Amino acid sequence: MSKFWFLLTIAAFARYAFAADNGLAITPQMGWNTWNHFGCDISEDTILSAAQAIVNYNLTRFGYEYVIMDDCWHAASRDNASGAPVADSTKFPNGIKDLSDKVHALGLKFGIYSSAGTYTCGGRFGSLGYEGIDAKTYAEWGVDYLKYDNCYNEGRAGTPLISYERYANMSRALNATGRPILYSMCNWGEDGPWNFAPNIANSWRISGDIMDNFDRYDDRCPCTSVIDCKLPGFHCAMARIIDFAAPVGQKAGHGHWNDLDMLEVGNGGMTFDEYVTHFSMWSILKSPLILGNDVTNMTNETLNIITNKAIIDINQDSNGSPANRLWKRSIDGGGDLSLWAGGLANNCYVVALLNTSPSSQTIDIEFSDVFFDQGKQAQSQTYTIYDLWQKDDSGSWGKNLGTVQGSFGNVSVGIHQTKVWRLVPASLPSQRQILDEL
Ligand SMILES: *[C@@H]1O[C@H](CO)[C@@H](O)[C@H](O)[C@H]1NC(C)=O
Ligand SMILES: *[C@@H]1O[C@H](CO)[C@@H](O)[C@H](O)[C@H]1NC(C)=O
Ligand SMILES: *[C@@H]1O[C@H](CO)[C@@H](O)[C@H](O)[C@H]1NC(C)=O
Ligand SMILES: *[C@@H]1O[C@H](CO)[C@@H](O)[C@H](O)[C@H]1NC(C)=O
Ligand SMILES: *[C@@H]1O[C@H](CO)[C@@H](O)[C@H](O)[C@H]1NC(C)=O
Ligand SMILES: *[C@@H]1O[C@H](CO)[C@@H](O)[C@H](O)[C@H]1NC(C)=O
Ligand SMILES: *[C@@H]1O[C@H](CO)[C@@H](O)[C@H](O)[C@H]1NC(C)=O
Repeated sequence: MSKFWFLLTIAAFARYAFAADNGLAITPQMGWNTWNHFGCDISEDTILSAAQAIVNYNLTRFGYEYVIMDDCWHAASRDNASGAPVADSTKFPNGIKDLSDKVHALGLKFGIYSSAGTYTCGGRFGSLGYEGIDAKTYAEWGVDYLKYDNCYNEGRAGTPLISYERYANMSRALNATGRPILYSMCNWGEDGPWNFAPNIANSWRISGDIMDNFDRYDDRCPCTSVIDCKLPGFHCAMARIIDFAAPVGQKAGHGHWNDLDMLEVGNGGMTFDEYVTHFSMWSILKSPLILGNDVTNMTNETLNIITNKAIIDINQDSNGSPANRLWKRSIDGGGDLSLWAGGLANNCYVVALLNTSPSSQTIDIEFSDVFFDQGKQAQSQTYTIYDLWQKDDSGSWGKNLGTVQGSFGNVSVGIHQTKVWRLVPASLPSQRQILDEL
């Protein structure tokens, strides 16, 4: 191991001590969840078919690892004698332990869902007051991941401390099982989890539920910002969540991430360019990348998006810093143009230009903007630019566009499109290697 990688490893482990302390999600977790496509209509077969498809499509090579069973796996009630959770025996005739064994046998990890309330959002029994026995049972079932929702919380929210205590309870219960279980909090951003959750959870949802739509306003997602939002709701269009995420990037890091919600790529409500925007922005903002489509039946377009290694590498970069929005300009006719940048390992940078307006935009990107934080020296450096949504001659994502200094000009971004570039210092010896290795 080179000295560089050694130091990097130390740095990663030193930082995870501030997270849930389970050593998980050092980079944002990746996987698949039943909810966005199947809702309550799930069974053993839904999960095993998806797991098999993930393997067949080689998605594991890109980092997709967790297969997560969302709401509605439950029996009508808990075990009356012990209080332990029980699964629906019609949908899961062989039980959950058997299911998780089969998922593990495919080389994947298994996730489950519950709510920090008396009921789940789908009206099944919740975990409030049953944290200990639920965590213990999940561990016995071989669960590796818990998505923990916020429905029917009996009013135990309203201040960060009240929410913290309800969610920390399950965090401690998971820890007490001795099994490393990734803890994915889903309290929709209530009471600002970015402030109170970094040392109890691996990720926390920042807003109401995503809707498979680019930017349609819906009153069921009424807040204009997630800071002090009193009704997170649902039907939050994808571009609205990007806007919500912009100010809270500063709170994420190794082992504790802002969760922008599960992906809709492949579910049909957006165009190809809009899904590219969705996947790009979730990646550079270091959201968990949890697929929400039917992975057994994907178009090549969908597959192309979710297997763009150059973009996934940005999400999984060892630096662990979400990109920051440098500016946002309103465009006549609605929507806006925004410039984003973030630091990556090896002194590389990611730069993205997002256009949510209904017309194509062409601009020059100034290094005085991109490297505003880094100062004059970085601003005057020469960089090699890779366009991460173009393939090079060998068919790999990340086309070399040459070197630039001071600015890169005449950049066009189409309607609802996002362009993403990796900037590599031109002084670094083996450029392509950096792209391929990370
Ligand atoms: C439980 O927490 C302790 C310290 O906070 C940590 O060292 C340990 O690895 C955790 N165990 C699990 C299984 O998460
Ligand atoms: C998965 O990888 C194997 C081995 O490299 C290859 O033969 C197969 O075609 C790949 N499958 C897909 C769907 O890309
Ligand atoms: C628990 O008891 C209720 C009625 O009190 C019954 O309807 C339910 O089937 C029982 N559940 C189990 C898992 O035995
Ligand atoms: C968690 O909540 C349960 C039930 O509400 C309670 O009995 C238990 O003491 C709590 N545990 C911790 C560690 O706060
Ligand atoms: C596969 O997806 C297409 C649309 O992309 C749909 O028309 C078809 O019904 C799906 N097939 C199955 C088996 O779900
Ligand atoms: C999808 O891509 C595969 C492999 O590149 C190809 O064989 C297949 O014909 C494509 N399917 C469609 C519908 O374009
Ligand atoms: C800008 O780029 C377009 C194609 O992307 C090209 O046609 C045009 O000549 C370029 N303009 C300048 C000033 O470089």
